[in-house]
Amino acid sequence: MNSYGLGGRAAVITGGASGIGRACAHVMARSGADIAIWDRDQEAIDVVLKELEVYDYRLHGLVVDVGDSGAVDEAMEHVVSTLGHVSIAVCNAGIGGEALTSGDYTDAAWHQVIRVNLDGVFYTQRAAIRAMKAAGRGGSIVNMASILGAVGFPTASAYTAAKHAVVGLTQAAAWEHAADGIRVNAVGPGFIRTPLVESHLSEEQIAALAAQHALQRIGEPEEVAELVAWLASDAASFATGSYYPIDGGYLAR
Ligand code: NAI
Repeated sequence: MNSYGLGGRAAVITGGASGIGRACAHVMARSGADIAIWDRDQEAIDVVLKELEVYDYRLHGLVVDVGDSGAVDEAMEHVVSTLGHVSIAVCNAGIGGEALTSGDYTDAAWHQVIRVNLDGVFYTQRAAIRAMKAAGRGGSIVNMASILGAVGFPTASAYTAAKHAVVGLTQAAAWEHAADGIRVNAVGPGFIRTPLVESHLSEEQIAALAAQHALQRIGEPEEVAELVAWLASDAASFATGSYYPIDGGYLAR
C-alpha cells in the first residue's frame, strides 16, 4: 500500500461511490487528502464515506449528475465552500451503455453515453479548472478514459468515441492550463473487475476478455487507483497532457 503525500489537498472524485472511483477515494484519503465524492445515489455515497472515516480527513459527499452542467457547477461551489479549495479532480463517472453495432445505435443510446462519459468529464474538468484558477494554487486533473480511448471495440461505438474524445480534451486542457499550474492527464484502464463490468458480462465473457490481456487476467480497481493517485501527486510534476494505459498489456499487441 503506497502513500502519495496528498496532505492539504482536496480531491473531487466523480463516480466515487463504486469501482475505480471508490478505490481512488481510498488511496487518496490514505495519502492524506480531503475527499469529496460525487455520485448518483446518496446511500452508495454514504457507504463509501463511512469506509473512509478510518483515515480521519475531511469528507464530503454529494448527489450530482455529472451530465448536468448546472448541477456540476453548483456542486463545485459547495465543495469549495466546505473544503476550502479543490486541488485534485478525478473525472471518473461513466457508464457502459447499450451493446449495439454502429449501424444499430439509436440516437437515445448514443446521447445517453456521450452525456455522461464525455459531457460529464468536460463539465467536471471545466468546473475544476475554474475553481483551481480562482484559488491560484494549481492542481491536478485526472480524466478516466479507457483502453477504448486508443482502440475500438465492437458494439461500443458511443463508449469508444467518448473515451477517444476524453483523451483529446485532456491534451487540449493540458496545453491551455499549464501556465496556471494545472496538470491534466488521462488514464486508460484495461478491463477492471467493477460493477460496470460484472453487471454487463458473464464470468465466461470475463474469462474470454481476460485472455486479451498479456497478464491473462482483468485488473482490480486498486491497481488503477495507484496510478491516479500518483498522477494527482507532486511526484508526477512533469506529467501533463498524457494518456496512461494501465491495462495488463491489452494494448501491447
Ligand atoms: P462503476 O459502475 O463501478 O462506477 C461508476 C460510478 O459512476 C457509479 O458509482 C455510478 O453511479 C457513477 N455514475 C454513473 N453515471 C453518473 C452520473 N451521470 N453522475 C454521477 N455519477 C455517475 O464503474 P467503473 O468500472 O468503476 O468505471 C469508472 C470509470 O472507469 C468509467 O468512466 C469507466 O468508463 C472507466 N473504465 C472502466 C473500465 C472497467 O473495465 N471497469 C475500463 C476502462 C475504463
